[in-house]
Amino acid sequence: MQGIIDLRRVTSPLLERMDADIASTSRNLAASWAASSEMRQHRKFGTPADRQAASCFLSGRYAERIDPARIFLANGTQNVLLLLLSALCPKGGTVLVEEMTYRQIRDVANLLGLTLHAVALDEHGISPDALEEACRAYRPQVLYCIPTVQNPTASVMPAERRIAIAEIARAHCVTIIEDEAQGLIPLDPPAPIGAIAPDITWTVTGLSKCLMVGLRVAYVVAPAGKAPTDVLGPYEDMAFWYASGLAAALVTRMVETGIAADIRSAIQGEAAHRQSLARTILPSFLAEDRSGLHLWIKRPPLAGAILAETAAAHGVLVRSAREYALDCDAARPGIRVSLADVARDELASGLQRLAVSLSPRTVSGGEHR
Ligand SMILES: Cc1ncc(COP(=O)(O)O)c(C=O)c1O
Repeated sequence: MQGIIDLRRVTSPLLERMDADIASTSRNLAASWAASSEMRQHRKFGTPADRQAASCFLSGRYAERIDPARIFLANGTQNVLLLLLSALCPKGGTVLVEEMTYRQIRDVANLLGLTLHAVALDEHGISPDALEEACRAYRPQVLYCIPTVQNPTASVMPAERRIAIAEIARAHCVTIIEDEAQGLIPLDPPAPIGAIAPDITWTVTGLSKCLMVGLRVAYVVAPAGKAPTDVLGPYEDMAFWYASGLAAALVTRMVETGIAADIRSAIQGEAAHRQSLARTILPSFLAEDRSGLHLWIKRPPLAGAILAETAAAHGVLVRSAREYALDCDAARPGIRVSLADVARDELASGLQRLAVSLSPRTVSGGEHR
């Protein structure tokens, strides 16, 4: 076996065109930008041109163009989560999250002294019954969720489920923070919850997966009828969340020139190609039609921790369910497999190793751990 293949990190896949795109955008910017005056300013919320570009880049995701006054820029989703949870939850407040979710939400909640409670998932995402029960039991201020290409389970919540989730949240006066980290990756996903329930939802679209993580830019769409400043007033002068002027200028220029749309569609094509490669190599584990930059594989009754250990012994690294679970329960089934971070041929080798490691002869013990 040659070298370890690491299928843990989910990021935008490397495209041949990216170096040329960054170089040409930088040249274009340098030729026409009032750099010294712009770089001496903070980019708080983004400039009008930034917000206009954001509205344009997000337009395919909503039936109607979002008013740029509802949009602002920040330096990545993690900072937005810190900002929004600070603004929306009182000290000691309560946030509902999917039972397995983006790992760093726990760090953000710890930092802010907030309590997280888990809501059960099924194959379509958050279970409405579980959400209703959790709202009654815990009286949360916020629901943080990832309806489109859920992390880690890769589910895409159907439209009817999104409506049901929004109705329950509204009935219990719960604000939704919708994380669209991979919202721009599937070819035709249902509209975001922010489009269904614009009165109660903040939708965050980080550009890390659909453009490049190094930009550290996220677009935030605030609830309709609210200027972002209405809620974020107390945090307006705290620069931790501001997008960098240089990064924001680059992103805006990429959107204006159409380069951002081209990169995004190349990444969508790459994700679709890699999903079908995975389906060819691991047919019996991937029955459902999934999209996005990662896979979720279960082999009940085996624990994800066992599957991940066995995969590591075969030279491929993946993440187990327990890493995403609030209860950190090692018996949880499931592993997350990134399709994005290595070249296609290395991915194919990694998936082949995984297929061997998952075969009944390799993991025949059937034990939980
Ligand atoms: C669901 C989810 N949210 C947020 C992030 C991080 O986004 P950003 O790079 O914009 O902070 C990730 C990245 O792994 C993610 O999977």
